[in-house]
Amino acid sequence: MTVRHLLADDDLTAAEQSRVLDLAARLKADPYAVPVLSGPRSVAIISDKPTLRTQVSFAAGIAELQGHPMLVDGRLAGIGTRESVPDVARVLGRQVAAIVWRTYAQTDLEAMAEHAGVPVVNALTDAYHPCQLLADLLTIREHRGTLAGQRVGWIGDGANNVAASTLLAGALAGMHLQVVAPEGYQPAEDVLTRARALAETSGGSVQVSSDPGVLAGADVLVTDTWVSMGTEAEAAEREAVLGPYRLTTEVAETAPDGIVLHCLPAYRGKEIDAAVIDGPRSVVWDQAENRRHAQKAVLALLCVGFGELAGEHRR
Ligand code: NVA
Repeated sequence: MTVRHLLADDDLTAAEQSRVLDLAARLKADPYAVPVLSGPRSVAIISDKPTLRTQVSFAAGIAELQGHPMLVDGRLAGIGTRESVPDVARVLGRQVAAIVWRTYAQTDLEAMAEHAGVPVVNALTDAYHPCQLLADLLTIREHRGTLAGQRVGWIGDGANNVAASTLLAGALAGMHLQVVAPEGYQPAEDVLTRARALAETSGGSVQVSSDPGVLAGADVLVTDTWVSMGTEAEAAEREAVLGPYRLTTEVAETAPDGIVLHCLPAYRGKEIDAAVIDGPRSVVWDQAENRRHAQKAVLALLCVGFGELAGEHRR
């Protein structure tokens, strides 16, 4: 059987993405419905960058799948310094059922996947954050009833990992995506090309602008920190350029029915006003909870196989 991974959002087809979301919704209602890791089988959760939601939601979710979550400090392991990524992959692949890795370079994650022999899941890299997007899509579906045709407005750093994943996963789901960001912080051409190709098939669309006015009437408003992990040295410059691209009360008022998403951690008064993130249209706590349900679903489907995991079997 070919080993499947989730390295970027478009590793899933549209049909697989919706299967993951359906299974996530089922697991949310019945957390122990699919004990795919019973054995017990261990899953390594490796963190090279700070983590709260990711580590906790994966660990809790793996326990609910009746597996054993193994927390690995990437710095202690010295992945890529003390040992090469392929060697680490070969060693871990002999011990665990899957590897969940938060790291910097997407190429390192790809090398892990190439050599591990077990599913590898991207728990955030500099390039993408696909687990976040599965949780976001689940949250949007819960609050808006549907994904296809929803108008999603992103404001802030349009070149970061969560923005790239929003474009790819959103386009796969048939959403209309509008990124508002200043020059230098707009999505990479490669991401735009892939997202536009997906949107063409799904009936969605992808637009980039530097005018926050285009967010008027959006169904979903999203932002993220201006200073992603690993870019701290650029903090002053980023805050100066991205300053006018905040999710303020005034911007939120132009989309009065829009729900508000933020992957957290949030910096109130910077990328988002406190009144917006703490206001009635904010769904950020649902988003945070949904990380667990979405990740359980994707792990279940990667470990057992998208063709295999049907109905209630494996109980
Ligand atoms: N773009 C942010 C997301 C944090 C969950 C970062 O990479 O730091």
